[in-house]
Amino acid sequence: MTNTEKKSFHQSLAEWKLFIYNPTSGAFLGRTAKSWGLILLFYLVFYGFLAALFTFTMWAMLQTLNDEVPKYRDQIPSPGLMVFPKPPSALEYTYSMSKPLTYEKFTEDLKRFLEPYSLEEQKNLTNCPDGAPFKQNGPVYQACQFPVSLLQNCSGMSDTDFGYSKGQPCVLVKMNRIIELMPDGSPQIICDTKDAGIANILTYPDRGLIDLKYFPYYGKKRHVGYRQPLVAVQVIFESNATKKEVTVECKIGGTYNLKTQDDRDKFLGRVVFKVLVST
Ligand SMILES: *[C@@H]1O[C@H](CO)[C@@H](O)[C@H](O)[C@H]1NC(C)=O
Ligand SMILES: *[C@@H]1O[C@H](CO)[C@@H](O)[C@H](O)[C@H]1NC(C)=O
Ligand SMILES: *[C@@H]1O[C@H](CO)[C@@H](O)[C@H](O)[C@H]1NC(C)=O
Repeated sequence: MTNTEKKSFHQSLAEWKLFIYNPTSGAFLGRTAKSWGLILLFYLVFYGFLAALFTFTMWAMLQTLNDEVPKYRDQIPSPGLMVFPKPPSALEYTYSMSKPLTYEKFTEDLKRFLEPYSLEEQKNLTNCPDGAPFKQNGPVYQACQFPVSLLQNCSGMSDTDFGYSKGQPCVLVKMNRIIELMPDGSPQIICDTKDAGIANILTYPDRGLIDLKYFPYYGKKRHVGYRQPLVAVQVIFESNATKKEVTVECKIGGTYNLKTQDDRDKFLGRVVFKVLVST
C-alpha cells in the first residue's frame, strides 16, 4: 500500500463524515433542516394527491356497478353442466354395492343437498304455473317451488340410498345459473351412453325436462330462496352385463339458444361421467 492511497482513504472518510453532518452549514446528509422539511412536505403532498386520485377513481368506478347484476358477462352466456355428488376423482363414481362405506359419502351428500328441496323448506315459496317463464319486475322476487318428488326414484323418498345399494346409482345434473338467462323452446337434459347393451339411462323428471318456470333467474341477492331445477340420472345395468361399467354423457337439448359445444370449455352445455359398480 502506498502513502498516497492511505491519504486519500483518510480524506474520503473525512468527506463522508462531513457529508453526514456538516457542523458549519448544519446540513444533514447534504441538506439543511429547511431543505429536508420542504422535500418531506413535497412528498407528503405528492403522495397524498395520488392517494386521493386513487380513492376518487375507485369510488367513481364503483358508482357504475350494480349490486344485483354483474356488469361484465360472457359475450355469449350459455350455462355449463355440473354433476352432484362430486366424485373424489375425475368424474368417476366407483363403489361396491355390498360395502355401504364405499358409497355412504355419495348418499349423505345427496341427502344434504336435497334438504332445501323438501316440502317443509319450500312452503314459503310460490307454486308457479307450469310451462311458461316466470318473469318478474320486482322489487320483490318470488322463487318457484321445485318439489323433490319430481326426481321420483332418485328423490330419496322411497329409496333413501338413491339406488346405490341396488347398483342403480342416481347422479344429479344441474345447469349453472346465469342471471336473466332465458332458454328458448323446452330445455331438457338428455343423457345417454355409447356403451350399448350394458345399461339403461333413466332421467327424472321424465325426459330430463326443465320447466320454463325456473327461468329467468334474477341473481342471489334479489332472487332469495331460488331453487335451482335439477335433473336426476339413474343408471340401471342390464342383468346380463358382465362388467358394471358405463360412461354417461349428458347435454342440454330441446333449445336452440344454449350451446352444447365449445372448444375452450368442455363443460359448456355437457358433462361426461363414469359409473363403475362392483359387487
Ligand atoms: C316461512 O315464513 C315464516 C313467516 O314469515 C317464517 O317464520 C319461517 O321461518 C319461514 N319458513 C322457511 C322454511 O323459510
Ligand atoms: C322406481 O322404483 C320402483 C321400486 O324399486 C320400481 O318398481 C319402479 O319401476 C321404478 N320406476 C322407474 C321409472 O324406474
Ligand atoms: C343384454 O341383453 C340385452 C337385451 O335384453 C341385449 O340388447 C344386450 O346386448 C345384452 N348385453 C350383453 C352384454 O350381452
